[in-house]
Formats: sequence, structure tokens, C-alpha cells
Amino acid sequence: TDDRVARIASSIRVIPDFPKPGIMFQDITTMLLDPVAFKDTIDLFVERYREKDISVVAGVEARGFIFGPPIALALGAKFVPIRKPNKLPGAVISEEYSLEYGTDKMEMHVGAVQTGERVLIIDDLIATGGTLAAAIKLLERVGANVVECACVIELADLKGRDRLGDKPVFVLVSST
Ligand code: PRP
Ligand code: MG
Repeated sequence: TDDRVARIASSIRVIPDFPKPGIMFQDITTMLLDPVAFKDTIDLFVERYREKDISVVAGVEARGFIFGPPIALALGAKFVPIRKPNKLPGAVISEEYSLEYGTDKMEMHVGAVQTGERVLIIDDLIATGGTLAAAIKLLERVGANVVECACVIELADLKGRDRLGDKPVFVLVSST
């Protein structure tokens, strides 16, 4: 596992001052160019959640759409997209949230997740935690049981976990 995590960590490119001065952008597109690192990432999540009775994997647009679907397929779970505003065509519920740079909204289709379903939320990265907090709220509003949030990368200095109450977050790579 440590070998796999080390390869994953070194496959992520850091780009300073994107999209704004002072932001150290964690670019997972370089990991996608290394099929071993990409597969190891998916496998590490699947190994963790295989016996956890997850029926829904919820992925956060946009980068949660890269990691969520392969995990959902491997777990035999549904994939539910949590999207930026005005993208989903059906009836939605929405939550506003503040971002590391700006503010936005997240939406989820009504009826995608049933009361009591065991949900895993996937994103590439937790920074301030605002995005995951909004995703958790959306799922809990429909009565889902959010078992855990999982991200590839955590920017630990931003203490995003503190915004998620007692909701556990599992990360592969913690960056300071
Ligand atoms: C990024 C990242 C996470 C979020 C983390 O997404 O992919 O979803 O920010 O930040 P937070 O913990 O401070 O909320 P972003 O909305 O920038 O764009 P994306 O559509 O490329 O995923
Ligand atoms: Mg994102």
C-alpha cells in the first residue's frame, strides 16, 4: 500500500499560482497519464469500501466524476452525480457553498438516492471542506446515510475536516 501511495503522490503535479496567485493547484491530470497510479487509486478505494455495503457512490463535479464511476462499478453501486447549478435536467435540490476561490452551488436530482441508502462521497481533493459539506447536506436532506467521504488529496493546513462535523474523511495523500 505504501508503494502504491508513494507512486500516486508523485504522479500529482503541483502548479503554483493557478487559478489565482497564492493557490498551489494540485493537478490530478498527470496521475491519469500513469495508468498504474490511476488504477492503484481506484483499487485502494475499492479495497476500503468493498465490504461496507455501499449502495451509492456520489461524485462531485467535475473531478469527482473521474474517480467516482470506476469505484461505483467495482462496488456494484449506483453512481450519482452532484453537479454545478443548472446542469441537471430533472427536479433538483441545491445547496450553496463557499469555495477556496469564490462561491457556488451544488445540485442533485430528486429521486436519485433513497432514504437510508449507504453513500460514499468521492472527490479529488478536500481544501476548505466547503464542497464536501454541501454534498453531505444534499444527501442528508434526502435521508441518506453518508458513510464516509473519500478524496485523493487533502490540503491539511486548511483544516477542511473541521467543517464536516464528525463525518469521516479518508484521503490517500495529505499535502501541507
Ligand atoms: C475543487 C476540487 C474540490 C474542491 C475542494 O473543485 O476539485 O471539488 O475544489 O475545495 P473545498 O474543499 O475548498 O470546497 P472546483 O470547484 O475548483 O472545480 P472542478 O469542477 O474542476 O472540480
Ligand atoms: Mg471539484
